[in-house]
Amino acid sequence: DRKIKIAPSILSADFANFGQEIRAIEDQGCDWVHVDVMDGHFVPNLTFGPAMCKAIRPHIRTVMDVHLMIAPVDPYIDAFAEAGVDIITAHVEAGPHIHRTLQAIRATGKKAGLAINPGTPADAVAPVMDLIDLVCVMTVNPGFGGQKFIHSQIDKIRSLRAMIGDRPIHIEIDGGITPETAPLVAAAGADVLVAGSGVFSGGSVAKPEVYGQNIAAI
Ligand code: DX5
Ligand code: ZN
Repeated sequence: DRKIKIAPSILSADFANFGQEIRAIEDQGCDWVHVDVMDGHFVPNLTFGPAMCKAIRPHIRTVMDVHLMIAPVDPYIDAFAEAGVDIITAHVEAGPHIHRTLQAIRATGKKAGLAINPGTPADAVAPVMDLIDLVCVMTVNPGFGGQKFIHSQIDKIRSLRAMIGDRPIHIEIDGGITPETAPLVAAAGADVLVAGSGVFSGGSVAKPEVYGQNIAAI
């Protein structure tokens, strides 16, 4: 009996009003707040860094889930930890030493996540399974909100659920989540759904119930 969590991405929020935007989604019952950090190098877009995270932190009552789309990662881990975030997720593709990176995140006392791009196989997670609290499966190529869901990733989610079994590791899905795709990823084994454009353009958090009745059956 897995409870599906909704993690709106503030990438699609009004950047001049993060405080208000976060209050609105939390009042509507979102579970986590997903923060997309981009460096214009690992991904072709720029967003915000640790100082912005620190400024946003006091406005978040739930969980601050930070998705780092940056390379390198290691020089910035302490700064994000000091900003008070709860989960720090790094990409396996961001460098040759993901094991070291995950150890460094854990050493700060924060939860560690591993993100994998659409072209990366599920097997990439196995060697670092004991170092992570979350796997973030990208169902779009990272960089922008509002892209189309890549259906070929569903089999990967299923494989990851089988690999993870009962370990306390979240499977988070990021990209193209809509009322149509949410039930598919939930049925494949996901338990955290990131939603950016779906939540903010519609102005409301689509809770699992409204993402489709299939989820309720899980
Ligand atoms: C993409 C980001 C996502 C993105 C999701 O690079 O990691 O978190 O904001 O946005 P939607 O839900 O619009 O696909
Ligand atoms: Zn993200």
